[in-house]
Amino acid sequence: MSQSGAAVTGGGAFRPSSEALAFRATLDGPFPENIAIIMDGNGRWAQSRGWRRVRGHKEGTESVRAITTTAAELGVRSLTLYAFSRENWKRSDFEVSTLMRLLRLYLRRERRTLMQNGIRLIAIGRLDDLPPFARKTLEETIALTANNEGMLLRLALSYGGRTELADAARSLGRDIVAGNLDPESIDEDTLHRYLYDPHTPDPDLVIRTAGEMRLSNFLLWQASYAEFYVTDVCWPEFRREQFIEALRAYAQRQRKYGGLPTATDGPSARPRRSGPVA
Ligand code: FPP
Repeated sequence: MSQSGAAVTGGGAFRPSSEALAFRATLDGPFPENIAIIMDGNGRWAQSRGWRRVRGHKEGTESVRAITTTAAELGVRSLTLYAFSRENWKRSDFEVSTLMRLLRLYLRRERRTLMQNGIRLIAIGRLDDLPPFARKTLEETIALTANNEGMLLRLALSYGGRTELADAARSLGRDIVAGNLDPESIDEDTLHRYLYDPHTPDPDLVIRTAGEMRLSNFLLWQASYAEFYVTDVCWPEFRREQFIEALRAYAQRQRKYGGLPTATDGPSARPRRSGPVA
């Protein structure tokens, strides 16, 4: 796509398996169809054991595999992983190049798993920033999985939420100048169409590992109404069991989107407007 950022997309129908539906039935509440994860704590996990930070990233790729396959198995529709932020370029050359090599290794090694699980891969972010070897492997894997009809795995790479919004504004401005867009017609849906990947629904649940209570420039637009789940567990130790714990916590949440949950309707509750709530 353009130099302003990219989402490389494919297509396909999505149907959760009967096993996935059976799992959902065990949750006493809603299931988050679309999940995004801020994978944090790799460095701290390694350093607390007296190891180099990059060992945490290496172990973190094992968690990527575990969570991706578990999510696909449980019928998650889309999983977005914050794999490399625009801010991450500020880290040491060694750490950055290790992360890029790990990305290539992961993509090569996991192709079989992605295919076996019917997972379709796409990427969002300033993909032109990636070194050519990583970009090439990414594009090859995206092409390989393009016709898969199971879970969508989105890797956020060289991604920043503010950059995404600035890139969207730039593209939108170009369309105005070209006479293809009337400024008076711009609303939320219009801006949404200019995001890197306007096709994937907003996350229902954003998970952050390693305890920090921040969004860290992740999916700023899309996460507006997402439920937030923070665990102290560092990413290298976040596996199937911890993921299911997050799903169970979500099932207990009551999403209001700025409105009122039905359960709170009572004599003192104000009348609710019909239609979407703000
Ligand atoms: C945060 O840990 C994590 C990252 C900056 C990168 C995440 C990368 C991986 C899980 C491995 C590679 C990814 C893929 C998709 C193959 P941190 O280093 O910021 O941890 P800290 O806060 O403890 O320093």
